[in-house]
Amino acid sequence: MSDIQRVGVVGSGLMGSGIAEVSARAGLDVIVAEVNVDAAAAAQGRIASSLARGVKSGKLSEADRDAALARIRFTTDIGDFGDRQFVVEAVAENEQIKTEVFTALDKVVKDEDAIFASNTSSIPIMKLGMATGRPEQVIGVHFFNPVPVLKLVEIVPSLLTGSTTQDRAEEFVRGTLHKEVIRSQDRAGFVVNALLIPYLLSSIRMLESGFASADDIDNGMVLGCAHPMGPLRLTDLIGLDTTKAIAESMYDEFKEPLYSPPPLLLRMVDAGLLGKKSGRGFHNYAK
Ligand code: 3HC
Repeated sequence: MSDIQRVGVVGSGLMGSGIAEVSARAGLDVIVAEVNVDAAAAAQGRIASSLARGVKSGKLSEADRDAALARIRFTTDIGDFGDRQFVVEAVAENEQIKTEVFTALDKVVKDEDAIFASNTSSIPIMKLGMATGRPEQVIGVHFFNPVPVLKLVEIVPSLLTGSTTQDRAEEFVRGTLHKEVIRSQDRAGFVVNALLIPYLLSSIRMLESGFASADDIDNGMVLGCAHPMGPLRLTDLIGLDTTKAIAESMYDEFKEPLYSPPPLLLRMVDAGLLGKKSGRGFHNYAK
């Protein structure tokens, strides 16, 4: 049984708010750090509407929803993380921003056994570990979007992650958060994105070259292969900016053309067409 009760989440975009939600639903005390009050309010709204889906579908009582919401506090000061036992970083997929977060956490978290987790999908855990004075306590704990729905978490130790950290993180994810675990080596993309990202990029190249329409590409994979959504709609869900950032990290690591982001993806990110979160990507989500 995990001893972890006090969780901190840094960054509350799609992934961070999902991680905060599942942690609060598991009965944990959660603090979420955001850069400003507007971002915190947006995350609070996302979590509230996700919990409302649970109530609507009969999976969650109104009392449990209220209790989960009451367990989450928001702050704009990472200094409030002093007593956290498990901190998970879920800020933008950018190495410099992430290393700054880890350096800051190392200074403020007082618990000598605290685990410093990153939800990165492609940035080396080793680099994040070396941004702290305790790399043996830094580990990749990678969730999948939508976090409240998808069961998988990838656990990624770096060369210096201690075995106690690995065991405690795994016990926490399985026993407390009730997710399934797979382990991966510390290589950009880990297991799932190493397979998924080339597939998503191929679908963008297919669209870009006029091979087929967005609807036909997506319907092909939904109706022909029983995927829950097609690759372009999935890229919209992940976010085109996030997909680009992951592809770039993987390309940096392996120098394989299959990880190189196609020009259409780059231009769409430049245009602010980021997918579902911005209202338009390969499909339209305007209300
Ligand atoms: N929050 C909470 N619950 C949600 C939700 C959300 N954001 N989205 C969907 N749900 C719940 C619904 O409430 C519903 O629950 P119910 O069965 O109890 O009513 C259930 O999930 C199914 O939802 P819907 O009926 O609305 O819609 P679908 O059946 O079409 O499912 C989907 C939506 C769950 C998003 C499904 O299409 C899916 O699983 N798609 C694939 C997602 C995927 O591959 N994610 C991985 C992305 S890669 C990643 O995250 C890694 C990163 O590093 C890039």
